[in-house]
Amino acid sequence: MRLAVFASGNGSNFQAIAESIQMDKYADLVVLVCDKQCYALERAKALGIPSFVLDKSKKREEYEQDVTKVLDFYGVEFIALAGYMNIIGSTLLDAYDGRIVNIHPSLLPKYRGLDALERAYENKDSEIGITIHYVDKGIDTGKIITQESIRNNGESLEKLEERIHALEHKLYIKTLKGLLK
Ligand code: GRF
Repeated sequence: MRLAVFASGNGSNFQAIAESIQMDKYADLVVLVCDKQCYALERAKALGIPSFVLDKSKKREEYEQDVTKVLDFYGVEFIALAGYMNIIGSTLLDAYDGRIVNIHPSLLPKYRGLDALERAYENKDSEIGITIHYVDKGIDTGKIITQESIRNNGESLEKLEERIHALEHKLYIKTLKGLLK
């Protein structure tokens, strides 16, 4: 299965996925798509994976048509969002119906949208977790595939973020392996 990862930021999930695919060959990671300059692009370069930054200052439909051209060129069959800070519009949803997944740092349906982990931390939730879900037209509303959580030991937000990221990498790899094999 030919996979594209979409990212907007640091790209640690992208790198974890890329390395696991290079090792276990359960899919072909053919391209990284970004909506802005970000560190994920550096990671792609180091990993030898083609990457694109597309200009999202245009209308969503036009932007997504540009994205689709890249995806068509690489024969992409499945998309994993990993810190991609954009709503997916109907152009991509129609083209990839049921074949776009996202990772979100909360136990959905709790804390949809931005700053999910920060909100769970502020609320002193005793269980803090992550969700991998299919993408639909809402914000973090698609069908849940899997969730995992850790106990909040009252540590700092930074420490919690570290643990959540480690959990994300593990669960995203495991889930993609299951979906793409
Ligand atoms: C992750 O916490 C993910 O859950 C959220 O954005 C973050 C991306 O982190 N959607 P990274 O860019 O993969 O390091």
